Amino acid sequence: MMEKKEVGEKAIEYVKDGMTVGLGTGSTVYYFISKLGELVQQGLSIKGVPTSKQTEKLAIEHGIPLVSFREIEQIDVAVDGADEVDLDLNLIKGGGGALLREKIIAKAAKTFIVVADSHKNVDTLGTFPLPIEVVPFGYRMTMKYIRELGGNPTLRQRRGTPFLTDNGNYIIDSSFQEINQPEVLEKNLNLLPGVVDNGLFVGMADAVITIVDNKLVTKARR
Ligand code: A5P
Repeated sequence: MMEKKEVGEKAIEYVKDGMTVGLGTGSTVYYFISKLGELVQQGLSIKGVPTSKQTEKLAIEHGIPLVSFREIEQIDVAVDGADEVDLDLNLIKGGGGALLREKIIAKAAKTFIVVADSHKNVDTLGTFPLPIEVVPFGYRMTMKYIRELGGNPTLRQRRGTPFLTDNGNYIIDSSFQEINQPEVLEKNLNLLPGVVDNGLFVGMADAVITIVDNKLVTKARR
């Protein structure tokens, strides 16, 4: 918990007055959003673009002014969490189910900053089951295709019914053991009929704020 607070609050350094800020989803970026709310109360002028309904609610609770994605051309900085971060700063995201809007916003951001506690750091991606957003229609066939790519897919459920994303889709969680070529798997998954997008974020993070050997570090993309 303390690690999440430390890395989350550190990301505030990337926010400057007048910026449009992408607001990620999850328990780490929660601390970034809380801190941002405090600064807004003290006079900082920014506009937030939330990556989920959950974050939209949180941002409103913290008094952060929001702007609709439709009204803007680009985002200055986006800050988000991750489920796994590898040595090249490639990510698995989507543990909270918000991967599609997260990827759209990360891509639109001039600078994309990831906040991740020490447990998220791995040498190779793939232990954390990769979240894949699929349309409900024909999802069993989509699962079959994911299995053919080497995955072990399961349909995410909440209280006995399929989990629905903010976009009205399902999430398939699929472990792949070791993802040695994340850029290849990301593309291959997105070629499958029924797949909307997947939680591999390859070459997108500009910096990852994390904890290594109990120290706060910022790893920049090489
Ligand atoms: C949400 O869909 C995810 O991509 C989150 O960013 C990710 O699960 C990190 O969440 P925590 O910060 O809660 O670990």
